[in-house]
Amino acid sequence: MADVSTTQPAARIAGTGHYVPEKVLTNLDLEKMVDTSDQWIVERTGIRERRIAAEGETTSDMAAEAARRALAKAELEATDIDLILVATVTPDMPLPSTAMFVQQKIGARADCPGFDLAAACAGFIYGLSIAEKYVRTGAAKNVLVIGVELLSRVLDWTDRGTCVLFGDGAGAVVVSPARDDGRGIASTHIYGDGRLAESLCIPAGGSREPASHETVDKNRHLVKMIGQDIFKVAVKNLTAASVTALEHNGLSPDDVDWVVPHQANSRILEGVSRRCGVPMDRFYINIDRFGNTSSASVPIALDEGVRNGTLKPGMNLLMCALGGGIAWGSALVRL
Ligand code: UT7
Repeated sequence: MADVSTTQPAARIAGTGHYVPEKVLTNLDLEKMVDTSDQWIVERTGIRERRIAAEGETTSDMAAEAARRALAKAELEATDIDLILVATVTPDMPLPSTAMFVQQKIGARADCPGFDLAAACAGFIYGLSIAEKYVRTGAAKNVLVIGVELLSRVLDWTDRGTCVLFGDGAGAVVVSPARDDGRGIASTHIYGDGRLAESLCIPAGGSREPASHETVDKNRHLVKMIGQDIFKVAVKNLTAASVTALEHNGLSPDDVDWVVPHQANSRILEGVSRRCGVPMDRFYINIDRFGNTSSASVPIALDEGVRNGTLKPGMNLLMCALGGGIAWGSALVRL
């Protein structure tokens, strides 16, 4: 699904923020937990360490902290927010939405609407796409988009095929009306293909396989992934979505200052780089420090890059992400 870009975007990213828990889990720590090695993890994924939420820390706690930091950067109050979108597959509870807990924690208006969206690792791009449309139509002025995951609580810590990959964290942006300066969200493109829905899933705990002693005994309430199935389509689909973003905006690979990608596997990104013609030294990579934080990875990388001065106002940023669903997408943002 594409939207129409114009030379003057309707919405911009007015502020960014991120939060990651303090606790660091290194590959060496994992060597003591499962049959793995630092060398395997680094060579196959690029990950060296990841963050793990503290006991009692919740998804909405992390989301609220990232949101507060994004609001401060945007020089807005929580009461200025008109809509809260929380992209997550690890909500505080199945019911109600994590967005409502965030509303309370940040002190947004008591009538401020909000909802969660489940598009796994593509969740932030989906959220950005929705926020852009609310702002463009005038239905909302300031939209908070948060990508947050607390995956450590739904990982099978005996499965080396998944537990070494993921980490916890949150990233947030405030989307506001663009100014008349050509900066903003130039385009978003989002896609899905349900044929691979069960290649990355949490089988139990929903209505199809409600939680029971049996599902817990069999670890069916934890993440299952057929990594190779996802890997095969990831390079192809991320490349296609990225090329579409460039063509849609009349840009060449040389016009991209930075790619801010979902951080699932550095080998996937090397494949995308080769195929779409933007060299790897213009991919913002922090997978080595945070692992795969699913919907949080793009906004964490974005905010980290803004705060350390790598990503500067006016630069062309190409964002792309793909994950469970499978769901994927791209966005072209002139920062
Ligand atoms: O976030 C969005 C969605 N997810 C993704 O985008 C993930 C996409 N997939 C991947 O990134 C990769 O498929 C993985 C990193 C998950 C796995 O890498 P791979 O190169 O596809 O490895 P593999 O699954 O083909 O496994 C190769 C070998 C196997 O051993 P045998 O059968 O060759 O003896 C695995 O059992 O590596 C073994 N293995 C491990 N060895 C040490 C799997 N996990 C580990 C591990 N440590 N942690």
